[in-house]
Order: sequence, then C-alpha cells, then structure tokens
Amino acid sequence: MRKKVSIVGAGNVGGSVAQRLAETGVTDIVLADVFDGYAQGKALDLAQAGPVVGYDCAITGATLPADYHLTADSDVVVFTSGAPRKPGMSRDDLLATNQKIVVDNVSQIVRHSPQCVLVMVNNPLDAMAHLAFKTAGFPKARVVGQAGILDTARFRTFLAKELHVSVRDVNAYVLGGHGDDMVPLVSYTTVGGVPVSRLIAPERLAAIVDRTRKGGQEIVDLLKTGSAYQAPAAATTQMVLSILLDQKRLLPCSTYLEGEYGITDLFVGVPCKLGAAGVEQVIEIDLAPDERDALHRTASSVRSLVHKLGL
Ligand code: 2OP
Repeated sequence: MRKKVSIVGAGNVGGSVAQRLAETGVTDIVLADVFDGYAQGKALDLAQAGPVVGYDCAITGATLPADYHLTADSDVVVFTSGAPRKPGMSRDDLLATNQKIVVDNVSQIVRHSPQCVLVMVNNPLDAMAHLAFKTAGFPKARVVGQAGILDTARFRTFLAKELHVSVRDVNAYVLGGHGDDMVPLVSYTTVGGVPVSRLIAPERLAAIVDRTRKGGQEIVDLLKTGSAYQAPAAATTQMVLSILLDQKRLLPCSTYLEGEYGITDLFVGVPCKLGAAGVEQVIEIDLAPDERDALHRTASSVRSLVHKLGL
C-alpha cells in the first residue's frame, strides 16, 4: 500500500509540497483547507497533471472541518495553514493569528492519525512546533519543524553566487530559531571541501550571513502579497521523504531539546536524523564559543514567544 501524506493548508506552500510529492509518486496525498472547494480544486488540477507527468498516486481534496476523516491514518501530516507575512511584518507578528489555527487543526488531525509524524511549517515556526507538540501530546520524535533546510539553502545559494560555483558544492548548516537571529555556522561551511573562510573575505562573509538571516523578508518585500513558497516547499518535501522512505538524512530541523546544546524544553533548529520514527536522533556538534552564544540568544527569542503562548 502506498504511504499517505496529508497537507493542511492548500495555499502556495501546501500546494507546492503536494506537487513535489506527487511527482515522486511515493505517496497518496490529501490536500486540505478551510475554504470550501479550494483544496478540491487544487487536488483535481494536480491529479489531471498526472497523465502528462507520469504519476498515478491518489490526490484528494478536503474541506475542513467537515472532511477531517479523509486525512485518517496519514503517515505524515504537514501543517502549512495560517496567515503568511505581509511587507512590514515579522514572523513573530503572526503568533496570535496562527495560534488558534494550529490548536484547532492539530487536535482534530491527531484524533484521525494518532501515529503520524507532524511536520510544522507555520510561523513563527519554532513556537508553532512547540504549540503543536503540546496540543498533540505526541512523543517529541513525532513533531518536527521545517526551517533549517530552507535557511541553509538560502545561505548556500548566496555563497555559490558569490563564488560562481554550483550550489551542489556548498555544504553548510544554519541552526537556531527561524528568525532574524538564526545562526549560519561559518565554521562548518565548506565549498568543495575547502573552509569558506579561506575563500571569502570576512566582511563579504558577514554580509552574506546577514542576507541569509533576512532571506525571508527579502522575498516578502519583493512579492508584496505573500511570502516565499518554492524553497520552503522544497525543504518540507525533503523532510517528508526522509521520514516516509526512512532515509535517515541528517538535516537541520526544529526539534524539542531536552538539554542538548544546553537548551531545555524548547524547539530550536539543530541537526537531526530524520527517519520513519520522525526525529530519531539529535546530533550534537562542537560549536565555537561565539556560535554557541548565538544559538543561546536565538533560543531566548524563541522562549519569549513560547511564553507569550502561555506554554
Ligand atoms: C520564509 O522564511 C515563509 O518563513 C518562511 O520565507
């Protein structure tokens, strides 16, 4: 039997995740939204691309709350529902709006798919993952947030452009919360195996780190009517596939820490092993003192949001 992935929120991110997953052919997909007909329309359109592209998985649209039963027994549920940013807004400005959406949706979803892995994509990401974890009552391995792959992809893109090399040869890690104080780890960044600090002058590197931190905002300002969705969807799809196919990829994800990196009772982005059980291991890497301090600063920002949620 094919795997099953439900995607809550059929907007730009949810729809793009559905498309990327459909094109792999490894999973059936339920695309769900609160706007009547919207998810059904997108699902039907995607299904009708199947004969041309060559995929034959089932793609079903669902209107919530009436159709929660259609999501039953999902292996993975991706949450993209919630308001995106508009120009002038930070991710943190979405806290109150998205809090209710996450609580309502998660409690219904876990009733129908008690064994699923929840992949959170809503902003502010780490706080929403924390909220989903507390709402679902799942073991920590089965709630994970997407951000580090996206932030790292932005860092890799900018570095590759600077050096006129393929993005495939740039290896990097961006850790921490998905906010302006995220932590691009320069000490772990290599280009074709060469430490990046030997290839790019410190002031240029600092500018690239800064652009990475503001990478989401740059796109919001350009689009004016929404936020990024292609790279977020690609990053989310990579996580879903690692779980569905038990690939055990090592990927930067937001996970619940219980002492790792000196951080407790908080979702923060760190390297994780993602497999069929969800987050199967948190990988602790040695950090330079300034990187460790930066990770703790970003954790403080996440903690203040979590406190605002009353958690
Ligand atoms: C971003 O960074 C939407 O948070 C997402 O683009």
